[in-house]
Amino acid sequence: MSGTKTIIDAQNGKTFEVPEEMLQSGSLIIIDSRNGKKYSVPVTNGTIRAMDFRQMKISDDDFGLMTYDPAFLNTASCRSAITFIDGDKGLLRYRGYPIEQLAEKSSFLEVAYLLIYGSLPTKTEFEEWSHNIVHHTMLHENTKKLMEGFNRDAHPMGMFISSVGALSSLYPDAKNIFDKDLRQLQIYRLLGKMPTIAAYCYRHRQGLPYVYPDNTLSYTGNFLSMMFKMTELKYKLNPVLEHALDVLFILHADHEQNCSANVMRSVGSSQADPFVSLAAASAALYGPLHGGANEQVLHMLNDIGSKENVAAYVKRVKEGEVRLMGFGHRVYKNYDPRAKYIKEIADKVFEVTGRSRLIDIALELERIALQEEYFITRKLYPNVDFYSGIIYQAMGFPTDAFTVLFAIARTAGWLAQWQELILDQEQKISRPRQMYVGEGKRDYIEVKKRE
Ligand code: ACO
Repeated sequence: MSGTKTIIDAQNGKTFEVPEEMLQSGSLIIIDSRNGKKYSVPVTNGTIRAMDFRQMKISDDDFGLMTYDPAFLNTASCRSAITFIDGDKGLLRYRGYPIEQLAEKSSFLEVAYLLIYGSLPTKTEFEEWSHNIVHHTMLHENTKKLMEGFNRDAHPMGMFISSVGALSSLYPDAKNIFDKDLRQLQIYRLLGKMPTIAAYCYRHRQGLPYVYPDNTLSYTGNFLSMMFKMTELKYKLNPVLEHALDVLFILHADHEQNCSANVMRSVGSSQADPFVSLAAASAALYGPLHGGANEQVLHMLNDIGSKENVAAYVKRVKEGEVRLMGFGHRVYKNYDPRAKYIKEIADKVFEVTGRSRLIDIALELERIALQEEYFITRKLYPNVDFYSGIIYQAMGFPTDAFTVLFAIARTAGWLAQWQELILDQEQKISRPRQMYVGEGKRDYIEVKKRE
């Protein structure tokens, strides 16, 4: 027979007696002070299951305890083997590979394969993969006609989200999400067609004819051609810019359970097809606190105007008047490794395009901010969006197209997250609980009798 062990309440120093066997399993011991009951809850991978709280009741008709976690500050919604982030150390890995190595040595399409299938492709696998994506870059002419209906000054993200969603109407087979081959086909279609939709959004805004894909070019080369080709027969690519865009796409390809990945999973969990799920994820990305931040950074830097005005702007941030866009992150509490790498790309791009005057304002902003108590205590560092927009602008992309570029790259991550969700036996329709704080029952009063 085992005895009891005395344990100390870490919060108030009070002691409790707990049966010894409860302490042996490496679990969490919970004492419900409402009724004195003790529970042993298993800890796995540093996580306890929220459903283990449901057994903690104070009466038979009590629903049981729930956890309350607005904005998922401390809740894991899935098991994932795709992307690893250590926010304190500033580490990012896709399927175990450090982001720096992938940015240095890999290509966006290879990284997309890695994210979606879990390992780097062999030469043959990669050739087949690239071939299939390249051969799904054409858009149905109806999509083009749909896009022609947008206002000339429509925001590119509004056009992008609607056009991606509309693909669902062209590919009804996408509803068969449990069919491996059909899932594969939609993955090719989505990765293939995103750059074409993005380029059409731009051409539409400019009043320029749409440029059809050129399958002899690389993924980013073809995208640049569809964006910027004019009357020449073949678009003349600058290899530095083509490569820089490819690296930027790698850096943006996935970021575990961020706001838009969570939307992709949440919509996908209702077994909606991947086109509408991805349209919803793009909508989440559009917000200024997420992927829309790159556009906001440019507006902010333009508003600041010169290096001399930076200190005054930082003062406004500290007084809570404005946020420093492109700074701060829910997970990174150290330098965002992507932002570090993007600074290096900027130098290479500027050698081709000429130096952007905004980079000096951004560098000064970072220098001053990182010395300030406000940013140090809150662990606010530049994130991926702080420098990316400056590079995109130097390459000739209009400011409001930046988030569309982000969406092309993140399509790889969204698809990886979606496929993992579909294959995860433990997942069900995503449906959070709430803490109801509204009125109790009350009777309806007819309008003429209301005061
Ligand atoms: N500028 C000024 N203060 C900030 C900033 C910022 N950019 N970010 C956070 N803070 C402050 C908050 O005011 C808060 O201060 P307080 O404790 O005195 O109230 C504290 O830091 C914590 O901020 P939260 O908003 O609680 O942090 P959260 O994790 O919810 O937000 C977010 C993360 C949304 C990224 C936030 O840092 C932000 O708004 N940044 C600017 C927008 C941006 O760059 N977004 C892109 C993120 S990367 C991506 O999605 C691709």
